[in-house]
Amino acid sequence: MAVTIGRDIAHAVAILQQGGLVAVPPETVYGLGADARSAGAVRRIYAAKGRPADHPVIVHLADAAQLADWAHEVTPLAKKLAAGFWPGPLTLILRRAATVGDFVTGGQDTVGLRVPAHPLAQALLKAFGSGIAAPSANRFGRVSTTTAEHVAQELGDRVDYVLDGGASDFGIESTIVDARGATPVLLRPGQVSVRDLEAATGAGVAAPRTDAPRVSGSLAAHYAPATPLLLLEGDLLLELAATLARQGKRSAVLAMDVRQPLLDGVTWIAAPADAAAYAHHLYANLRALDAAGCDAILVEKPPARAEWLAVNDRLLRAAAGARTGSAS
Ligand code: TXA
Ligand code: MG
Repeated sequence: MAVTIGRDIAHAVAILQQGGLVAVPPETVYGLGADARSAGAVRRIYAAKGRPADHPVIVHLADAAQLADWAHEVTPLAKKLAAGFWPGPLTLILRRAATVGDFVTGGQDTVGLRVPAHPLAQALLKAFGSGIAAPSANRFGRVSTTTAEHVAQELGDRVDYVLDGGASDFGIESTIVDARGATPVLLRPGQVSVRDLEAATGAGVAAPRTDAPRVSGSLAAHYAPATPLLLLEGDLLLELAATLARQGKRSAVLAMDVRQPLLDGVTWIAAPADAAAYAHHLYANLRALDAAGCDAILVEKPPARAEWLAVNDRLLRAAAGARTGSAS
């Protein structure tokens, strides 16, 4: 049975109250949402995604005033970051309040919290009045979804309702920052950049330590299409596409600077040269290239500059997922 897609907030709230699953449109990627206070509802998320139960999920809130219900201690750093970036694409890791279930935190003593900016997500959170637990709305380890149609394709009737907020604005997942201490620790790069974080807090941003809270998106193999994906410099990409064509194999290319060669069996997408636009289209492009049914996806390496950090992070993981042949 096909899942219903619509914009009915009251219907979505009723489903959440009954312990069902609603796909939520934030500004980053679609989330697979459930009542964050209900163990049964959150377990349905894990089942729908095929995700191991010890992975924590982010709790989405209507506003920063709800932080104290979920965090044991709202640090001065967390207050600064919330004031600077919420509503927006930033997730804060804080010590959890005693009432937050292990089913949300994966048994850790921390909880991930964020206030999304998308107007429909905001309307849903306000009407629901409590936290909505939501990981990205894709099967575990696969490419995230950025439109309601992609959610429906990816999860089918494993989700009860898809709240259609159109194509996600940013297109890649939120920046995750451990805000328990005095300086922000970057756990996952995103739209909110290291420079933004430093400007808002006046503190240097640290890289994660080995005992940092676990972030499933930081598993090497993640965000991976089913087709093997290789990340290459432009000249090598062209050579490989030609070699594959000579072998009668087909390649699907995400190019930036290189021009499309005259080769048989090549599916070609020219990606934008601007980092934000590239990110906006990234997951839809990977889905389209994956759907072309080629032997390999060849992605031209974007520049190594700071504004490309989040994009390069996701591409490296997609390539790692392809290398290990597993998506977990
Ligand atoms: O933009 C986003 O962040 C999207 C939308 C739906 O909000 N969500 C998202 O969820 O990307 P997910 O589950 O695919 O990735 C969330 C990451 C995971 O890697 C998870 O491990 C991490 O957040 N996370 C959640 N709670 C955590 C915690 N208590 N400690 C450490 N990491 C946590
Ligand atoms: Mg995810």
